[in-house]
Amino acid sequence: MDNSATIVIFGASGDLTERKLIPGLYNLFIKGRLPQNFNIVGNSRTEYSHDEYRDKMKESAQKFVKSDQSRLDEFLQRLWYLPGNVKDEAFYTGMDDFIDGFEDGTSNRLYYLSTAPFLYEPILENLAISGMNHSNNGWRRIVIEKPFGYDLQTAKSLNDKVHDTFDERQVYRIDHYLGKETAQNILFFRFSNTIFEPIWNRNYIDHVQITVAEQVDVGRRAGYYDTSGVMRDMFQNHLLQLLALTAMEPPTCFDADALRNEKVKLLQAVHPVKLENTVRAQYHSYKTLDGVEDGSITPTYAALKLFVGNWRWEGVPFYLRSGKSMPQKTSEITVQFKPPAHMMFRIEHTEKMAGNTLTFRIQPNEGIELCTQAKQPDTAQKTSTVSMDFGYDEHFGHNAIPEAYERLLLDAVTGDAALFSRSDGIEAQWGIVDPIIQGWENNPDASPMAYYDESSWGPAEADDLLARASHRWIVRG
Ligand code: BG6
Repeated sequence: MDNSATIVIFGASGDLTERKLIPGLYNLFIKGRLPQNFNIVGNSRTEYSHDEYRDKMKESAQKFVKSDQSRLDEFLQRLWYLPGNVKDEAFYTGMDDFIDGFEDGTSNRLYYLSTAPFLYEPILENLAISGMNHSNNGWRRIVIEKPFGYDLQTAKSLNDKVHDTFDERQVYRIDHYLGKETAQNILFFRFSNTIFEPIWNRNYIDHVQITVAEQVDVGRRAGYYDTSGVMRDMFQNHLLQLLALTAMEPPTCFDADALRNEKVKLLQAVHPVKLENTVRAQYHSYKTLDGVEDGSITPTYAALKLFVGNWRWEGVPFYLRSGKSMPQKTSEITVQFKPPAHMMFRIEHTEKMAGNTLTFRIQPNEGIELCTQAKQPDTAQKTSTVSMDFGYDEHFGHNAIPEAYERLLLDAVTGDAALFSRSDGIEAQWGIVDPIIQGWENNPDASPMAYYDESSWGPAEADDLLARASHRWIVRG
């Protein structure tokens, strides 16, 4: 590990900094995973002195840090605050000098963009103008929060801007789902065992389902959400990343580029999604929220059926769904295997012989469950679905799973980009969702807006999407 690094957070008075970044950095600090001489410099427009900012962060850390808080004061001594307008060129000279002041010969810096997205470009430009984007005595890296672009075109132009200032190898585009232990484990499960990969294809798999359901509604985020909607907010990033991890080919080694090459290949192989294979919906009370436009047609729920055009997956439906105001928070991926080719048992009663399912419970109740058929005792030929279940809590202990941001911050500080999106990946993701969003706008009758009750599993149309192929949604979590 390097001996020193400075982490500069733009957007330091925001929610993400309080809830995730400062707690994540504190946890890394107490685990001894930050460089010895590390400093954190926060910036936003609000005027705070260093001490006022430390007090504010202390208060939030007391709320959001779940581990031992006894070293908070020691940690907060490494925290600094520089108020200023990021559009103002002169501000950067002051910041550069300030950081210089505690750098000890090496100058390693991680810039974290956690501001409103419209400020990304001015920050990039000013970092370049002030020369803060490179150094002869250390590294420079930049972390960029989502949303990365508003559509394919804006994502491309943001990529161009980023590349005017930083080389791709210096850029860390965040998708916090990739920092989740359970999402990382998909690859370990697939590629460090021998028994699943041989059947991980169209010959044995009937279909795959990815559900990211949220119990929360849009709440106080309505202003942002109404301009975004579930496709941009959840599908473009989190759901497509889960799809890529589930369906990608094995990389030759566990290295950022090898991994991302395979992901991009997979995303590029997704066939354009037909509008009749999409469902968009809004929960009933959405339009009553402050910040939502009258007559808004922003979807808070969507479901898709898509296909991947390659030898492994041709013809296998992938069903993806996500929504707000659903009955429970659950993110899971279920792989539904085909039923046995020949049925020698005479199935009694109503239970149909089901194919096996394998479910990755991304959150909560993190684990992996394999469902198989077993003979019911004391029957002639009746079977029952039974499960082999691995739970993180039982196996690794309570609280063994760190916050996604902790992992991602550590990787950015140590220079491992494997869990971050590359420019071609981001563009491939937009290439999938952009035509759907445009299709909904330009051809509204092809997939009309549906409505669903709060705390329900979404509209009937989403059930019909699966029923057309005799499938149904599965929730194991
Ligand atoms: C964010 C979205 O990226 O992910 C939010 O902007 C969503 O709308 C959140 O609530 C879900 O993340 P998690 O980790 O709670 O599943």
